[in-house]
Amino acid sequence: MVVLGITHPISLNPAACLLVDGQLVAFAEEERFTRVKHAPHVHPSHAIAFCLDRANLREYEVDFTAIGFERPGTRHVKSANASDYVAGTLAEQNRFDFLTSLGLVYYDTQLASYGERRYYDHHLCHAASAAIPSDFDQANVITLDGWGGATSGMLGYFDRGDGFQTFSTIDPNRSWGMVYELVTDYLGFKCHSAEGKTMGLASYGRVDSKLLPNFCEPPYGLPDVHRYEAFVTACEPPRRGDMIITDRHRNLAATIQHYYETSLVKIARWMYEKTDCKHFVLSGGVALNCSANGRLAQHNFVDELFVQPASHDAGTALGAAVLAHQEISGDWPKLKFDHAYWGPSYSSVEVKAALDFAKVQYQSCDPVETAAEALANNEIVGWFQGAAEVGPRALGNRSILANPSFAENLSKINRCVKRREPWRPLAPSIQSERFHDVFEARLLSPFMLMSAQVKPQWQPRLPAVVHVDGSARPQSVSADNNKMFYQLIGRFEQRTGLPAVLNTSFNLNDEPLVNSPENAIATFYRSGIETLIIGDFVVRKTQHLIARAECNG
Ligand SMILES: [Fe+2]
Repeated sequence: MVVLGITHPISLNPAACLLVDGQLVAFAEEERFTRVKHAPHVHPSHAIAFCLDRANLREYEVDFTAIGFERPGTRHVKSANASDYVAGTLAEQNRFDFLTSLGLVYYDTQLASYGERRYYDHHLCHAASAAIPSDFDQANVITLDGWGGATSGMLGYFDRGDGFQTFSTIDPNRSWGMVYELVTDYLGFKCHSAEGKTMGLASYGRVDSKLLPNFCEPPYGLPDVHRYEAFVTACEPPRRGDMIITDRHRNLAATIQHYYETSLVKIARWMYEKTDCKHFVLSGGVALNCSANGRLAQHNFVDELFVQPASHDAGTALGAAVLAHQEISGDWPKLKFDHAYWGPSYSSVEVKAALDFAKVQYQSCDPVETAAEALANNEIVGWFQGAAEVGPRALGNRSILANPSFAENLSKINRCVKRREPWRPLAPSIQSERFHDVFEARLLSPFMLMSAQVKPQWQPRLPAVVHVDGSARPQSVSADNNKMFYQLIGRFEQRTGLPAVLNTSFNLNDEPLVNSPENAIATFYRSGIETLIIGDFVVRKTQHLIARAECNG
């Protein structure tokens, strides 16, 4: 049985995946192919083509297309009609539902599908995208986003024998995603894209409830969206353009981050007390908040925490395919996320052809040894290997790597490679066996989605990856989930005595991660990356070029 899972074009992060007899064959985001960040509101036609090509299948061989959103007209509209809306007499909720319905109907006309088309509840898709790949037999399920379908979240329980049980859904008027987007926009960052900036800025500020009152309500501490909207609107004008970031902005970020973290822990504790289960899975765009996830993971009522690496709406393509497979076959697919490398990969012949086409000088190399030596020599390395990661985090196949022991590498990479704000943190990747030596964390972080405090003795040795508050957003790498990256980290430690490498996504500011060898070569020459290791080949910029560059250290 072949199930194609896709996002609905009303979603902001389109993606596609393919399940063949319950095995995940491919999973990729549309943005990687179109080269438009997030590729919002499009049919994921390129991602679908990639999935079918990976499985060597044609469109007519797809049995079902599963869509990660409700069927138009089934959940929304309610009592709304066009004349009511135009007259402005609708309640806020109905207006929201009406606009959602209009969007669904419009975007549904853009949707191409193969085989029988099936629609699934958006948050149930988020839930399935985390629960099934976690491989847990039972788990508390938390999904949180801006809004998706009729709700902004789902709190429930998964049992592999009994399926999903919903305890509660979260009304869009209590949406953590919407409030976080609201503050992100106020701070002058692009909402529904740059929430990570707000999270990163939060570490520079202090919580100030006078600056931003706590409009979060018991029992879970969910926010009152309208009160926050009214309050923020009535404050000083929002930060725009290149306006300086002040303490007020930093404190605002810290305060909303604190409220969210507190709410997430309250939600999780309530679920634990209800189910007596210490396994948790998280998904939905808000689940990409690694600071909050890290705080949750500190609590002893959390024994296991799986966060879907594609927690934004891309994950609903996977969730829909999973739900369709179960609905049709009666069984959950055999799907465990040991890794996130479900995207395109390229043969050595293809990589070489791209280098030849670009007419660049390159040499064959041992990628692990070459990269370890370059990093030990404090070069900034573009690292392109194997299949692309799904989700926004670079996990060692489409990464920019550097030596974390040089503090200046933080500003050098932000300013001269990524072209972004100098205060943005960069992450360390470390072998799983060394993880607890360096970080004060109870749980491993294979998808770089849980922050942790760096142990005091390691902070001065890894200054480029330690955030201002002593935290980091580490990735734990095992030999099973990425053998080559694991070996590279080990060789780097043998050379330098340092157990971690600096790892940030192989892209420039506001661009998707590189996907193909051509993307990697182009980004290498458009940035301050000094050495490109791509497959079994190395490309070096001449010392003349590096010395001439504006940002040489
Ligand atoms: Fe969503």
